[in-house]
Amino acid sequence: TLIPVILSGGAGTRLWPLSREQRPKQLLKLNSDLTLLQETARRLGGRPIVVCNQEHRFIVAEQLRELAMEPRGIVIEPVGRNTAPAVAVTALLAEPEALLLVMPSDHQVRDVAAFRRAVDQAIPLAQAGQLVTFGIQPTEANTGYGYIKRGTGFAVERFVEKPSSAVAESYLASGQYLWNAGIFLFKAKTYLDELAVHHPTMVEQCRAALDQGGSDLFFFRLAEEPFAAITGLSIDYAVMEKTSRAAVVPVDMGWSDIGSWSALWQESPQDDNGNVLLGDVIAEDIDNCYVRADDRLVAAIGVRDLIVVATDDAVLVADKAHDQDVKRVVERLKAAN
Ligand code: GDD
Ligand code: MG
Repeated sequence: TLIPVILSGGAGTRLWPLSREQRPKQLLKLNSDLTLLQETARRLGGRPIVVCNQEHRFIVAEQLRELAMEPRGIVIEPVGRNTAPAVAVTALLAEPEALLLVMPSDHQVRDVAAFRRAVDQAIPLAQAGQLVTFGIQPTEANTGYGYIKRGTGFAVERFVEKPSSAVAESYLASGQYLWNAGIFLFKAKTYLDELAVHHPTMVEQCRAALDQGGSDLFFFRLAEEPFAAITGLSIDYAVMEKTSRAAVVPVDMGWSDIGSWSALWQESPQDDNGNVLLGDVIAEDIDNCYVRADDRLVAAIGVRDLIVVATDDAVLVADKAHDQDVKRVVERLKAAN
């Protein structure tokens, strides 16, 4: 069996003010009739396991119900401890031989057929006990990604998570590295074995969180005490950088991580002046802007390269080149509360 595992615990702070704690970006409709979570669930079909924060369990269930998809499970985290434990609990719930296709919930994939072909290519590798990653041809020295140095065939010579920009530049220039798409395929047992080598305590804490937790329908609630005690770590740092069992399947599938407003602008259909105008917007002589008015009128005149996002309680105005700093606003808001 192949089990789609959807990670839906991120906060998406760079897409404030649309993305909020109550409703982070993966649960929003950004540039489609479906939310990012729904797009992800649709991509492979089947009965997924979704791992999310307890605040979002009902929204997640409802969004799957809208697709007439019955989840195999919704695993509820009392607190986020990053992706390594999130994946570990699903691996503990699954049969040891089950294949887990781990997917982030906040990506866009334009060519779904290419994605499915890549998964088909990855299946025999995963069955043979490898941790399969999916490699994207890099286009810039982005420091937010993992970098995979290819060996011969599907072999991975090295996996480096979020390198410094100088290192990322050198990787890009070498032409030997791919970006890690953040999607993984492996047997539940393979992942747990590797995690146990590098972080044995984490495996035990995850087991305890499941044993002491509860379940009802398809909900699996993790017990707070053992789960909160885990030192948060991503699967990339915890396992992928360290394992010798990694493989990579290169894939060209129109992949993008919709991490920020400019990324969303880039991925959305633009008018002749390069603008993306959504909702009640009046624009006069503006270029290359993303303007989104969710419940009020926004008028923009004579500006370029701006992001304007107006919701009922907040308005963001940002230079497109500074869109990564939106998360600083969220940090300040948090600190103030
Ligand atoms: N359930 C759960 N719990 N999900 C989580 C948690 C958590 O504590 N933290 C993050 N997630 C989810 C996010 O919602 C997202 O869908 C996915 O896991 C990946 O987390 P990110 O925080 O977005 O990771 P990243 O973007 O910094 O890096 C990863 O993705 C890159 C590609 O987009 C890495 O795998 C990189 O190597 C990769 O290049
Ligand atoms: Mg991400």
